[in-house]
Amino acid sequence: MQEANKENEINERKKRIFSAIQPSGTITLGNYLGALRNWVNLQNDYECIFAVADLHAITVRQDPKAFKKNILEAYALLLACGIDTDKSMFFIQSHVHTHAELAWLLNCYTQFGELSRMTQFKDKSQKHADNVNAGLFTYPSLMAADILLYQADLVPVGADQVQHLELTRNIAERFNGVYGKTFTVPDAYVGTVGARVMSLQNPMKKMSKSDENVNAWVAVLDKPETIIKKFKRAVTDSDSKVCIGEGKDGINNLIGIMSAVTGKTADEITEEFEGKGYGDFKNAVGEAVIEELRPIQKKFSEYIGDKAYLEEQYRKGAESALKLSQRTLDKVMKKIGYLPK
Ligand code: TRP
Repeated sequence: MQEANKENEINERKKRIFSAIQPSGTITLGNYLGALRNWVNLQNDYECIFAVADLHAITVRQDPKAFKKNILEAYALLLACGIDTDKSMFFIQSHVHTHAELAWLLNCYTQFGELSRMTQFKDKSQKHADNVNAGLFTYPSLMAADILLYQADLVPVGADQVQHLELTRNIAERFNGVYGKTFTVPDAYVGTVGARVMSLQNPMKKMSKSDENVNAWVAVLDKPETIIKKFKRAVTDSDSKVCIGEGKDGINNLIGIMSAVTGKTADEITEEFEGKGYGDFKNAVGEAVIEELRPIQKKFSEYIGDKAYLEEQYRKGAESALKLSQRTLDKVMKKIGYLPK
């Protein structure tokens, strides 16, 4: 009986999840409700590995001082959101040298044609036409390295990264096909989908910090008065009823946000705002978002004021990540035929 239990336990070993976020300077409410908040919940049911993807970030030019600050702030903010270094591995990508190394190797198992078909590459090379660098092109092989180094089973990704994950799977399968099973072929994590938060100014578009109109997005670290102001300015429609409906993209988005932060259903929200106008509703959504973000902002300011603590955490993360990823890198190099050191 006991033996059987033990076996069950082994069979039910937690699946491993890998995900990463770029240190962009602004983490938005969309990033939080769409991804980060889910990462926090995943920590209980999966073995999670998270990273701040600072190697990916230099595919666009970064100001050194601001970049350094953004990396540390991204790390602190993720801790503040609830990434728990006792449960999960959490590190900064550039601190773990195996990422750049495996990325190079995988570049040689990734086809020019495949990379050319990536829609993000096509979009970004149009947007940054003055700096279409090779890193922008091979970005997906670095992402594949991130994932494959840890033999991750599952990767929670937004719609914009699905194609990159698909490519990661192809690279892994190709390598396994040539050298025998080396990599776990990862699946997209499709569990509880995060809220898809749209722009407050153009609710047909996803909320993005790269929007020129700052009123289009809310940052996790925006001040309460800024948050209220942005919600008050949110685009709605000429109807006046707070309910989900066609042609009511602005209100649908606000209901989605309200639902995500309060846990209430759209029907409950509609009922609550029966007979009230859009002004009241926008104000209430703003207030609810402020309440949701308040504890995160408080923790963030504690963490960012304690550089020694942050250093201790990201060093610990990098050390564990290196140990684990080195095993995969060694295996890969051996299979390719490199002479052992
Ligand atoms: N490319 C991802 C983004 O910009 C970030 C990222 C880097 C990532 N490496 C990853 C996401 C590995 C998932 C898995 O959003």
